[in-house]
Amino acid sequence: MKKKIKAILDCDPGHDDALAILVASASSRLNLAGITVVAGNQTLDNTVNNTLKIVELAEIDTAVYAGYGKPLIRELTTAPEVHGESGLDGPILPDPGTAAADRHAVRFIIDTVRQSEQKITLIPTGPLTNIAAALLGAPDIHDKIEQICFMGGAARGGNWSPAAEFNILVDPEAAAFVMQTDIPKTMIGLDVTRKALLYPEDIEKIKNLGNPVARVAGELLEYYLQYHLEKKKMPGCPLHDPLAVAAVLEPDIISSRPYAVKVETAGRHTTGSTVVDFDGDRFGRPNVNVALEVDRERFVELVLESLHSYKS
Ligand code: BDR
Ligand code: CA
Repeated sequence: MKKKIKAILDCDPGHDDALAILVASASSRLNLAGITVVAGNQTLDNTVNNTLKIVELAEIDTAVYAGYGKPLIRELTTAPEVHGESGLDGPILPDPGTAAADRHAVRFIIDTVRQSEQKITLIPTGPLTNIAAALLGAPDIHDKIEQICFMGGAARGGNWSPAAEFNILVDPEAAAFVMQTDIPKTMIGLDVTRKALLYPEDIEKIKNLGNPVARVAGELLEYYLQYHLEKKKMPGCPLHDPLAVAAVLEPDIISSRPYAVKVETAGRHTTGSTVVDFDGDRFGRPNVNVALEVDRERFVELVLESLHSYKS
């Protein structure tokens, strides 16, 4: 039997983060060492509370650690227009049955990577604040990280500005630091997540999978879908964050190529953009595997299989 991948999911729920938690927790290929939480889609109080609600809903036996409440340098930008005032608006979710663990997320990441015999995969699906703080605070752990498979950035375009994707735009300094480390990295950016759409009929299938977790996941997705149909005029909703989890579980779901990538931190109109050196002769050697294509059919199948596995 293949060894399980040992991972930490660092998230800011967020509807798609909630789905990422559910897909990661359902997988028999993943040993989820912990869920760390950062401010992003909402304030830290809200993102932690939302994480604990999802953990309660799906009876997930993984501890939750609260991290940074604001970006390294800047003020926090949140996304209530996408995820609502709570960060996870839509269906009524159960009250959390437990509190967050009594250890800072950054401390947890450092301790876990240091103490683990196996290399750890980091899956950040929010701003990279916790990850940057851990890597800055403990250079000795860099070699013990298998890879950072992060949702964020875009080789072309943006969603929070014409040039930048939300997670990178919220904390560009953190992203810039993470990007220049020698740790293997995969960028699951808008180039692929905008192709990883869930259509209304997919959401209907999820609601009808026949278990309470899938039903609530479907209702969360219905809320998230409305924004993309009405405001973004998209035919479905992009499942950004679950795609980062899927790319760890089944790397063939995406195709990627190594490029040199830098994060813009001082642009007048381009702050937070991930600049990809496609010609390969300006930024030096490649530092990021940039995902450019996705097998949408297989990805949606994986999401359905994951949600189907919860108890009825
Ligand atoms: C990213 O921003 C957040 O709103 C989502 O949760 C996702 O991580 C997409 O740009
Ligand atoms: Ca997110």
